[in-house]
Amino acid sequence: MPNNVTIFEPTTLIDKDKFKFGKNVIISEYCHIYGGTGVTIGDFVHISANVCVGGGGSLTVGNFVNISAGSHLITGTDSINDALIGAASPLDLRKVDRSFIILKDYSWIATGAIVMPGVTIGEGAIVGAGSVVTKDVPPWTIVIGNPARYMKDRPKDKIIELAREAYRRI
Ligand SMILES: CC(C)(COP(=O)(O)OP(=O)(O)OC[C@H]1O[C@@H](n2cnc3c(N)ncnc32)[C@H](O)[C@@H]1OP(=O)(O)O)[C@@H](O)C(=O)NCCC(=O)NCCS
Repeated sequence: MPNNVTIFEPTTLIDKDKFKFGKNVIISEYCHIYGGTGVTIGDFVHISANVCVGGGGSLTVGNFVNISAGSHLITGTDSINDALIGAASPLDLRKVDRSFIILKDYSWIATGAIVMPGVTIGEGAIVGAGSVVTKDVPPWTIVIGNPARYMKDRPKDKIIELAREAYRRI
């Protein structure tokens, strides 16, 4: 692919025409990413092995974002009270809310985290390993746990400086 986009097999991108890639993107092996209503991936993004993106909504990934191994990003989900659940049920008997997930620049979804539909991970924010994120995460903060809660702030200035250097090199 152009722009130094590397996708290691076996990885499955479903509805490939829904994907837009920036520069310097790596998608590792065994990912399963559903294009849903659109997947936009920025520059210097690594999606590590066994990451699963499903739910049929949209995913917007900024620059310098990392999604570590085994994380799940759920961009939409079934209504639980008045409809059947799951792709094996007839579509007209299901109610699926196609939502979104936004991962802003410099954010990191660490190993095995789960991000629920409708969540925005703020610029520079970190979701600790194994966390379940149900609400927006403020910029330059670190959250951990299930449900994910504020742990501490993350320093910003050095990261921005390093990102400028990375762009100078391409
Ligand atoms: C969230 C994270 C960035 C915090 O790192 P840190 O600031 O160095 O945190 P510490 O290791 O000092 O831990 C501080 C406390 O938080 C707890 N903690 C750390 N990470 C946690 C997590 N993901 N979930 C729950 N608790 C966690 C520790 O047990 C410790 O608790 P204590 O004070 O009661 O002993 C880090 O723990 C993490 O999850 N990193 C992701 C690692 C990863 O996925 N790497 C990918 C490799 S490719």
